[in-house]
Amino acid sequence: MAYRSWNAQGGEGVIMHPLTRLVTFFAALGGLVACQTDMPPLAAAGATSESPFLIGPQPGTDRPIARPVNPYAGNTAVLADGRRLFNWYNCSGCHGDHGGGGMGPSLRDSLWYYGGDDAAIFASITEGRQHGMPAWGVKIPQDQRWRIVTYIKSMRTPNEQDPPR
Ligand code: HEC
Repeated sequence: MAYRSWNAQGGEGVIMHPLTRLVTFFAALGGLVACQTDMPPLAAAGATSESPFLIGPQPGTDRPIARPVNPYAGNTAVLADGRRLFNWYNCSGCHGDHGGGGMGPSLRDSLWYYGGDDAAIFASITEGRQHGMPAWGVKIPQDQRWRIVTYIKSMRTPNEQDPPR
């Protein structure tokens, strides 16, 4: 309930009837009290749940994600080219001439931070890795990336090209 009045400056304004103010005040107060009693704050925040189902969107799919397959897996004919590309793109500058490690980690030991199968190594090269590994997906053609992967996988095997002495 409101009515028009002339204020001190002579302009027209809308003010509330004092009784309306009082009613509004108690309505707001009632709302507050209702909130406090009806909903325990923890449950309202979702901190406790009796539901057996997880709530909200779940990451990942229910199907296994297709992983890329190395078209040159086990193909010794591409190893010399992989070795050449490893130096050509200066992988050796950070990982060492024979991948033994430098500013970047060793690629010829058995430890892999991001996985050592073909698809994982391909992903490291393509996407880059957070602590200083550039993403090469936009620079090196896919076919050449697989050749480099195949070369890296040949390290420490009898097939390795130009092995360290
Ligand atoms: C500027 C330096 C630099 C260059 C150039 C570089 N890397 Fe890296 N690379 C790194 C660093 C640093 C890491 C570790 C990143 C991390 O731990 O997050 C790494 C990580 C990797 C990994 C993951 C290793 C693991 O243990 O999982 C692979 C594979 C790799 N590099 C391959 C290559 C290849 C192939 C090239 C050339 C196309 C290359 N890198 C060029 C610095 C470099």
